[in-house]
Amino acid sequence: MKIDVHFEPAASLADRTGSTVVVIDVLRATSSIVEALANGAQGVFPVPSTEEAIRLASSLGREDTILCGEARGLIIEGFDLGNSPREFSAERVAGKRLVMSTTNGTRAFFLVEDAVRVLACSFMNLGAVAAEVMEAASIVVVCAGKEGQFSLDDAVCAGALVQRIRTAAGTDVELNDAAMGAVEMALTFRVNAHFLASTSTGQQLIENGFREDLDICAEIDRHSVVPEMDDRVIQLPSLDAGSSGPTA
Ligand code: MLT
Repeated sequence: MKIDVHFEPAASLADRTGSTVVVIDVLRATSSIVEALANGAQGVFPVPSTEEAIRLASSLGREDTILCGEARGLIIEGFDLGNSPREFSAERVAGKRLVMSTTNGTRAFFLVEDAVRVLACSFMNLGAVAAEVMEAASIVVVCAGKEGQFSLDDAVCAGALVQRIRTAAGTDVELNDAAMGAVEMALTFRVNAHFLASTSTGQQLIENGFREDLDICAEIDRHSVVPEMDDRVIQLPSLDAGSSGPTA
């Protein structure tokens, strides 16, 4: 088994063919996607821009479609929800389609959409994703990063994922340099809201009034769902298989 980590999405484009791609955006896109799908959302459509979100939502039909996401960390004018995982309760999202536009996370999905498998990972579903990829020969972990830059929260999550896979595999796993570095970072930082608050994205969320999001985003294995993108829609394989069930 081979695992490559990429600390920002563009670098991953060249070598993802035939690999299982795992996209990580701890703060907050993949945490929100995990929360929404665990709470019964039908599917999440990641889009690269606000304009594309509005266009897609109107073509899907607004009745069962929620427009969500952020620009500069805040809800986009005219959208139904922002990008706080606390907004994606079962009451709000069960049975709904979500069209999501965010600065880094949804764009990362868009960049890797033609890979064989594309999964969404955060601390909230770390164990479920590690178990899901155990049979893959080649795994590419793509950190969404922050506007093309390294993001510590994503890197530590990538390292924690690699560690879980390595421990369970019990055989030699070939790692690229970034994967080795990510493992060291995962061993260095203890994951909790305090750690997330120390990152630059965490700081920005606190400035915007989203400190409580850090608690939920730091909850390791809160859910056992594995969101997977197929034909530009991120869904669970089936709504009850592998789900930890809706939480209010
Ligand atoms: C992103 O995609 O850049 C993030 O999810 C930003 C955020 O949630 O504030």
